[in-house]
Amino acid sequence: MPNLYWKNKDKFKKSKTFKTRISYPFHILESIRNPTINKFISNNELIQKNTENNQNSLFKVNGWDNLLIWGDNRDVINSLIKKFSNKIKIIYIDPPFATGGDFKFKTLIGENDAFEVTKAYSDTWKGGIDAYIEFLYERLILMKELLAEDGSIYVHLDWHISHYIKIIMDEIFGRDNFKNEIIWAYPAASAKTRSFFIRSYDVVLFYTKSDDYVFNDDPKIYMEYSNRVKNALKKDEIGTYYYRGGSYNGKKLSRKVYIQENGIFPRDLWNDVPYIRANTLEYQGFSTQKPERLLKRIILASSNESDIVADFFCGSGTTLAVAEKLGRRWIGSDLAKHAINISRKRILDIYNTNDLINWEKKYERRPHPFKTLSVNKNLQDKDVKFEIKILKDKNKASIEFIDYFVPNLDLIENKLKRKILSFSDWIDSWAIDFNSQNSYFNVMWISYRTPKNRKLDLTSYPYYYEKAGNYLISIKVIDILGNETSQDYEISIE
Ligand SMILES: C[S@@+](CC[C@H](N)C(=O)[O-])C[C@H]1O[C@@H](n2cnc3c(N)ncnc32)[C@H](O)[C@@H]1O
Repeated sequence: MPNLYWKNKDKFKKSKTFKTRISYPFHILESIRNPTINKFISNNELIQKNTENNQNSLFKVNGWDNLLIWGDNRDVINSLIKKFSNKIKIIYIDPPFATGGDFKFKTLIGENDAFEVTKAYSDTWKGGIDAYIEFLYERLILMKELLAEDGSIYVHLDWHISHYIKIIMDEIFGRDNFKNEIIWAYPAASAKTRSFFIRSYDVVLFYTKSDDYVFNDDPKIYMEYSNRVKNALKKDEIGTYYYRGGSYNGKKLSRKVYIQENGIFPRDLWNDVPYIRANTLEYQGFSTQKPERLLKRIILASSNESDIVADFFCGSGTTLAVAEKLGRRWIGSDLAKHAINISRKRILDIYNTNDLINWEKKYERRPHPFKTLSVNKNLQDKDVKFEIKILKDKNKASIEFIDYFVPNLDLIENKLKRKILSFSDWIDSWAIDFNSQNSYFNVMWISYRTPKNRKLDLTSYPYYYEKAGNYLISIKVIDILGNETSQDYEISIE
């Protein structure tokens, strides 16, 4: 079989780093299990919703927490192999495309419409395309170890590099396990070129690990009929398509003939999934964010409820949000701290997003418990300081946020500083652990800003201590620049 060679491939395959599986311990940064969130739910409602959510829990796997991991995915996957080898049903990745550019995200500021565009991650490769291929090659080999025998991998790329990666996918996963080259075609309205044809599709390479794999013929993944077919059909009062026709004894009739399915089994050309728009609930202001509808089709087709879905380049957390809403367990990782922050808030706020099965409805369920982990020691930004006030009344305590100080203010661009009208405009989220005991942070209360709801609460809900004693309250703040810091306070309850 033909193989792809790039600079130093042989040297790399013989190298120590390629052979040794270095497994770093994970550090648990925080545990998030039904924290109180002021902004969209009252306390009574919250208790009721939590109970409902636990009762209708989509997956019933005891002791499982979904995982959001901050770190280079080579380290992350190496560290997951011991526990998750052959266990993951779908790996979807949307790595940088080797575009040679920087990707941006919008830093939203305060409650108004102010924002600054900030670099999200760089897609430039010092060693050129050879370095990029080596980067992905090494990681794809590791991912194969995690994939279940009946699992699937989807690799999202575009014209820059997909032709090379298809050859290395053949090498790693086997040519026989290639299933589709999915073309996700979207309208390229803003393209300016007049010197070649407008590029208007991405490529998703779909491989399985073996020939015995999960693939569901589920009407929920079907494509809608084309307009031509729809125009030829009629819809009854409840929206089911039919046409007039049929025959009896060779005679033509004109009775209603119902169409069994409301769509057709998908082809490999997906032109029914629109690009993300800023006015949608799923929009995160992350420039390479992919649509939830794309992941919905992939996840419903190649996994079942409770299966584990992983995305090691998770960005704004699209795969994780879709897996969450479809009742799959999920593991996500990203190298960029702000991508982890966006994903974390996206999952926390999942209650307010579209339901994937009935898009007109809101999802209105709280997320399953999840943990944020890191492969590096938690690096706190020590120079950040903030002031709070503890409001204590008998066995009840709440926290008021008073002030926030960003370090090295003179290094921050003036155009950003000018948009800051109050200290709270610096803050993107803050969380409280009212009874800090563990080496990690237990999020009991949190307030955060999202692209659609910019409000931040500066006073927390009260926490009721059941017993007298001395407690440690830990408060964690993440600012709009990505600085993260926490401070601890002692409190005595009589
Ligand atoms: C194209 S974006 C993914 C977008 C995502 N599919 C979404 O819908 O938001 C690629 C992501 O890969 C991350 N990334 C790049 N190199 C990485 C590495 N070595 N380990 C983990 N993440 C990495 C970047 O930080 C970026 O967030």
